[in-house]
Amino acid sequence: MNKQLLFYGQAEFESTKTLFHSLGYEMISLSFFLDDVKDLSKFTLCQHGVYVIDVSVLGGGYYNINAIQSIGESIFRLFQNKEIIYICDDKYFDKLRYELRYCFENFIDIKDKYNISFEALPTPVIITDKQHSKITDFTTEEFEVFFKSFRESLYGHEKFKDDFYEIAKSFRLFNKIGEHKVLSLFLLGESGVGKTEVARALYKCLGGKENLAKVNFGNYSNEFSLSSLIGSARGYIGSEDGEIFIRVRNTDVGVILIDEFEKSNATLFNFFLDVLESGKMVSSQALEIDINGFIIIFTSNIPKEDFPVRISPELRSRFDYKGHFTRLSNQDKRKYVEYRINSIIKKYNEHYNESLETDVVNYFIRTIPVDKYENMRDINKKIKMEFVKYIENVKSSQQNKGILTPNVLNILL
Ligand SMILES: Nc1ncnc2c1ncn2[C@@H]1O[C@H](COP(=O)(O)OP(=O)(O)OP(=O)(O)O)[C@@H](O)[C@H]1O
Ligand SMILES: [Mg+2]
Repeated sequence: MNKQLLFYGQAEFESTKTLFHSLGYEMISLSFFLDDVKDLSKFTLCQHGVYVIDVSVLGGGYYNINAIQSIGESIFRLFQNKEIIYICDDKYFDKLRYELRYCFENFIDIKDKYNISFEALPTPVIITDKQHSKITDFTTEEFEVFFKSFRESLYGHEKFKDDFYEIAKSFRLFNKIGEHKVLSLFLLGESGVGKTEVARALYKCLGGKENLAKVNFGNYSNEFSLSSLIGSARGYIGSEDGEIFIRVRNTDVGVILIDEFEKSNATLFNFFLDVLESGKMVSSQALEIDINGFIIIFTSNIPKEDFPVRISPELRSRFDYKGHFTRLSNQDKRKYVEYRINSIIKKYNEHYNESLETDVVNYFIRTIPVDKYENMRDINKKIKMEFVKYIENVKSSQQNKGILTPNVLNILL
């Protein structure tokens, strides 16, 4: 059993760091080790030398409360170096004094231990200085305009659009009175039916000009990948912001897309439980990003029947909307073809200074057998193929008539 866990106040963190650095200690966050517990070389790294390990990550709400004790018991055993000093943010004093009671003998304030007093620094609170465009900031008229364009951007899924409209209205109202912080949608369904498109359309209709905040959880399937997502603690080896914070900071719209949600794990699920409840994302550096008024879209390809098995009941009940996207009707697919052809023609005309008429749309609707495709990506490929063929035909007939323009020649070469 380790002897002591020392606690520092959040405002004292910098001073604590300076203190240990001046004593020649290297500071590391426990998240560095939790990321991949199988990588024992990390533990041997600390075999010798002077290290301070900050264990605050255990208290931060990322790990299920029932798991902290067992994580603690299994991980601290792996540190053979008895000289290591363990420290922790005093925010978690009560919680960790209890959960880690079998790992440490004493739980003490760092100031008492060293008999020092720190100069108190202001608590670092970093709320993004960025203004995100959010549906909660719209006037009723603006919201109606926004929703109309959202409806038009997403083909089919009429039931979803109706439900979403009602939920979004209620969200706007309850968000204003502080009762509903984040709107969460969980969208299930086969590939290429428009789940991700919901987030893209929301982004566009909310006036996004930068990047949609998108995180693919397929990249976070490792059991201890939390620190890549929320960053490792400040001031330590490998300290940096996690992907999700970078994405939120780099977007101008209050929408976050989490793709392939089922690929994540219990730790990340817990992180999101907390986010949905509090409307805040707390990084492992204990810095907060306020995401009040945001919409988070979770998407997944898992079959509908697997949903209750793969996603915990606590989390399931937190989603404001759970929807299953079915295949689009042939009529909606035709609408999609029409939209794509129109936009391709527009771009083509602009780029090549041509004047293809949009009435050719009907030609494509007749040519593309939409009933043969379920994934809109496949329809898109077919549209492109048919468009190239069409252009080639136009060109060869122009050539036969001797009206080949230099522009066209460029394309054909
Ligand atoms: N209902 C739809 N309305 C408008 N565009 C759509 C719709 N469904 C699909 N698309 C278009 O098809 C492409 C694929 O759709 P999307 O990326 O939303 O698929 P997905 O359901 O997220 O699939 P996956 O599960 O494979 O990620 C996108 O380029 C999108 O523009
Ligand atoms: Mg997708």
